[in-house]
Amino acid sequence: MRYEKGGERLRSSGAELVGGVTDPADMFALFDATGYAADSAPLRRDSRARRKCSRSGQVSRSPGKVNFLFVARILHASDLHFGRPAVAAQLVSLRDCITELAPDTVAISGDLTQRCANSEFVRARAYLDDIRKAAPVIVIPGNHDVRWLGAVARNFGFWRKTAHEFKYSRYARHISPELSPTLEVPGAVIAGCNTAHGISRGSLTRRFRDLGVIGHVKRRDLVKAEETFAKASPHAVRIIMIHHNPIKGETSGRHGLANTKQALRAFAALGVELVLCGHDHQEAIHTVEESSPGLVISTAGTISNRIRAGRPSSFNLVEIDESALRVTTYAWQNPEGFAPSRERSFTRGAGAMRGRA
Ligand SMILES: [Fe+2]
Ligand SMILES: [Fe+2]
Repeated sequence: MRYEKGGERLRSSGAELVGGVTDPADMFALFDATGYAADSAPLRRDSRARRKCSRSGQVSRSPGKVNFLFVARILHASDLHFGRPAVAAQLVSLRDCITELAPDTVAISGDLTQRCANSEFVRARAYLDDIRKAAPVIVIPGNHDVRWLGAVARNFGFWRKTAHEFKYSRYARHISPELSPTLEVPGAVIAGCNTAHGISRGSLTRRFRDLGVIGHVKRRDLVKAEETFAKASPHAVRIIMIHHNPIKGETSGRHGLANTKQALRAFAALGVELVLCGHDHQEAIHTVEESSPGLVISTAGTISNRIRAGRPSSFNLVEIDESALRVTTYAWQNPEGFAPSRERSFTRGAGAMRGRA
């Protein structure tokens, strides 16, 4: 699916950029003035309010003169857990941030519900429909969106097709029958890979508490991602979205994926630059040297009260330009809403990806 947001604007002349600036060099000065040149330092409180949900830079994708500022901006959220854990004020603030930040797309990496209940999916769907008014949305299921009984039946070989359909029936009915969707927006192409398969052979574990919680990447989804990337613009940044975290959570100490190594190697081989995931409920930004340049992994925290001790709810804003990929975490600042709290930048292009912590 290819999405062209504001097609008229994209086709318009490149003569004027932002605020009357016409010289690219001046545009960089404006860019620096936002404060986003400073990498990874916790932002001062006084600057938070000023920058709360504000657009950190401006898009310039004019086809002619200048085409080097943000290639793509992706708001990455996860684990909304509609049901008891949902926090209305956070959902409202997230929606407001989407409107104000105006990302090219909103990517939601699973766990829309808490108990996979119809009523929870109904609310999740209404919310997705609401934020779709502001930006295109790509979403995949998480382990909480899967019906376990179907997963177990399928695992033992009973009524395989029926069991498979049962497993995802509520997600398919309320959200989408497509479990591994793809989306191309100007500058980026996202391939979703469903990693939530319930209790299945690919993610069996000896740890009882992890049964059905661990996920895995399936080969057929890698093939689909490869086809999607091949059809996309050669200039589009290649992005994979999965639910389960491939990097051990700092607080949880747990991996989400059963086949982490193989998955990350496969992503790198596909030319992926960025992996979006959730599941751990703790925000994190990593690089993995599986390729040159390496993979950047954006783990979004949760938008709910299922937080890790001492960690706020959060989402990540990914901004990609021709030379750098920057991830800013927006943390919950009750009652002010979500505000930027930390950012990291990574150099793109030839040579090793360097995270500047
Ligand atoms: Fe979750
Ligand atoms: Fe999860």
